[in-house]
Amino acid sequence: PKDKQELIDGIHRMKQEKNAVILAHYYVDEDIQDLADFVGDSLGLSQQAAATEADMIVFCGVHFMGETAKILSPHKKVVIPDMNAGCSLADSAPADKFAEFKAQYPDHIVLSYINCSAEIKALSDIIVTSSNALKIVQSLPPDQKIIFAPDANLGRFVSKKTGRDMVLWDGACIVHIDISLEKLNDLRTKYPNAKFIAHPECQEHILIHADFVGSTTALLNYVVEQPETEFIVGTEAGILHKMRQAVPNKKIIPAPANENNTCACSECPYMKMNTLEKLYNTLYYELPEIHVPEDIRVKAEASVLRMLEMSK
Ligand code: 13P
Ligand code: SF4
Repeated sequence: PKDKQELIDGIHRMKQEKNAVILAHYYVDEDIQDLADFVGDSLGLSQQAAATEADMIVFCGVHFMGETAKILSPHKKVVIPDMNAGCSLADSAPADKFAEFKAQYPDHIVLSYINCSAEIKALSDIIVTSSNALKIVQSLPPDQKIIFAPDANLGRFVSKKTGRDMVLWDGACIVHIDISLEKLNDLRTKYPNAKFIAHPECQEHILIHADFVGSTTALLNYVVEQPETEFIVGTEAGILHKMRQAVPNKKIIPAPANENNTCACSECPYMKMNTLEKLYNTLYYELPEIHVPEDIRVKAEASVLRMLEMSK
């Protein structure tokens, strides 16, 4: 196909023919969000991946998300548009280094943010996402010692909110740590009535200014449910698409990044590797396919299922 409409038509046709489901994260390209069967945050996407009746899961997000889908639905074919769509958080925690780190704290349980590899999930006791981390930590016995990996900013936020001391692995999201406080302050002066809302992957010096902190789905729900009409949004700019569709009359402003990139806001280079053309090819060739070695998958599945159970 040559043009955009031909790509979109082809994707819809192959999706039917192959009984495939397209799952997309809020941070991917708007056109992909518009044709996906489900768009959501990491928790919602993994719940969908576990429950789908489709034969093939096409995951438009990043590698660890496709892996999580395969962990939960091992008998389905799981494909992603670009194998190079990684994540700085997952990359921050190589399995061998993490196993050494974990061995230093034998009486701690390991809580890992879903943004990590299958190997790290296999070394973890419970997986969390930004929408259930507080609830899961609060449900643990007060004397339970905890390692939290790989996002130190989310870990610090959870620790502060719950009053629980946790040993943190020092990982970060390159996108969320790049929000500029100086430019944010300028923007808040310009829009004094705007609510500032942020994702917990942001640094503490940004989060302390937020009126609300939550996962991407929680941020979307917040702008829909709150009566205010102006919001400055501290997360990857892809989420603005669904916000603007949901509340077209409200002003949704992306929080500014340090460096002036194309949109002067925060964009994840990995999420943006998902293009319509690559999605078309992925459906056509059913490649590239995610594989997880069975010994790792079984251990990783236990920690992800614990999360799904504790999120009910
Ligand atoms: P959530 O959509 O679960 O909030 O995660 C954000 C993120 O950075 C995904 O990579
Ligand atoms: Fe990873 Fe950050 Fe990109 Fe999410 S936004 S995939 S946490 S690098």
